[in-house]
Amino acid sequence: MHQTPTQAGRRRNSTSNKLSLIATLLLSSLAPGVKAIVYPSNHELYRFDYLGPNKQYLGTSRPLTKRENAIPLIVTNNCGETLWPGISSQHGDPPESHGFELAPGETKRQTVGPTWQGRIWGRTNCTVSGDTATCLTGDCFGKLDCEYGGAIPVTLAEFNLAGGVTGMQTFYDISLVDGYNLPIGVVYHPADNTSYIPPNLVNPSCIGTTGYLAAFSKTGLTYTNATYPMPYEDTTSNSDLIRWCPWDLQAFPPLKPGDGVYPYPDDNVQRPAFDPCRSACAAEHDPADCCTGKYDDPWVCAPSQYSNNAKAVCPDAYSYAFDDQTSTFVIPSGGGWEVVFCPAGRSTNILATFADELHSVAAGGRLAQDVLAKTMNLSYIESKISGAAADASVSVAGLVVSVAVVIGVVLGQV
Ligand SMILES: *[C@@H]1O[C@H](CO)[C@@H](O)[C@H](O)[C@H]1NC(C)=O
Ligand SMILES: *[C@@H]1O[C@H](CO)[C@@H](O)[C@H](O)[C@H]1NC(C)=O
Ligand SMILES: *[C@@H]1O[C@H](CO)[C@@H](O)[C@H](O)[C@H]1NC(C)=O
Ligand SMILES: *[C@@H]1O[C@H](CO)[C@@H](O)[C@H](O)[C@H]1NC(C)=O
Repeated sequence: MHQTPTQAGRRRNSTSNKLSLIATLLLSSLAPGVKAIVYPSNHELYRFDYLGPNKQYLGTSRPLTKRENAIPLIVTNNCGETLWPGISSQHGDPPESHGFELAPGETKRQTVGPTWQGRIWGRTNCTVSGDTATCLTGDCFGKLDCEYGGAIPVTLAEFNLAGGVTGMQTFYDISLVDGYNLPIGVVYHPADNTSYIPPNLVNPSCIGTTGYLAAFSKTGLTYTNATYPMPYEDTTSNSDLIRWCPWDLQAFPPLKPGDGVYPYPDDNVQRPAFDPCRSACAAEHDPADCCTGKYDDPWVCAPSQYSNNAKAVCPDAYSYAFDDQTSTFVIPSGGGWEVVFCPAGRSTNILATFADELHSVAAGGRLAQDVLAKTMNLSYIESKISGAAADASVSVAGLVVSVAVVIGVVLGQV
């Protein structure tokens, strides 16, 4: 009987159980060259097939106990170019692969254990050969399947599936603390017991790359869901996005035309659309930017210009060490996670709009009617966003001033 491994994996009949026993025995005396191919199924069932040296089907494993209550971990590339996502696992049962190629429009489905803790980022411009991958951003020490973290600067999606005092909450965030390279969105896939959570409270996105931002208009706003409108950041335009990275923090600053020797802080020099940005801390390792040493105190460590600009562009992202109050999402455990590179729409502004509603979600249990009413009330959302917009325009003004100061300092030194 011939069948493809995928078909075989979906079988749940008694033949496959018997075969799995045989296969277990076979596996204990695997000849060299006999490979077990592992692939994830849904969160109830996690099996793999034993294949022989000529890839012939030998049997399907029992569901692996450690995958009971496995959590879907999905990665989607919505960018126009191939990416090589990287994953690092700090705790819990890891996904099968920590690094792989993902063509535009492709999705990779894996699972992790219910106590998994880890990070996901995108690698760009990789040259791949076998197990090696040399990438311009996010590089994993030259390996395709990452063993540790990725080289900065990278935008990170961070998860702690069993957080909180009881381990019954999931903590997650989008972090620009290690810099920025790609737009990232996190999409929550609720479980049956968490489907009451409104989608506009839990799906943050951060778009800091020019060209990827949908236009905003009060009337033409693209909602992710007509019932639960998404609060989007509404002041930034695609042309603003080309300038948010402080000049000296660009990972690959353009050369000033003509001299061709060293980067020059001048906003008239055209920046590339793909303009990865180093965080102030990652670039200079200054305790005042990294909030270390005597700055290891939320009352002492102030956000840098980088953090302020990052927060203006991506209000729901973590921009520096003590920014966690306004950038960590906390929800009851259950459900799965998808990380989308280059998500559609705009950067979200959920945390500032729905702080109280998110506290109710974190506390667990059914949401009170008045909490739900606010998540569906468009005029409430718009009133909150226009309040936040006033703050954002202050930081954009700050950005212009600081660029002027940098230019002034440089000219003064010349
Ligand atoms: C690097 O990758 C980015 C994102 O995929 C792309 O926009 C850019 O053109 C690439 N750069 C080079 C030099 O290939
Ligand atoms: C909006 O999301 C909720 C919860 O996920 C879902 O029940 C509802 O059908 C969605 N509404 C629309 C119009 O998509
Ligand atoms: C939902 O069910 C999952 C799996 O049984 C469990 O781990 C999780 O704690 C539950 N979450 C809530 C909010 O009850
Ligand atoms: C929606 O929010 C607005 C502004 O906060 C408020 O005036 C209005 O009463 C709310 N509508 C409902 C149906 O809750």
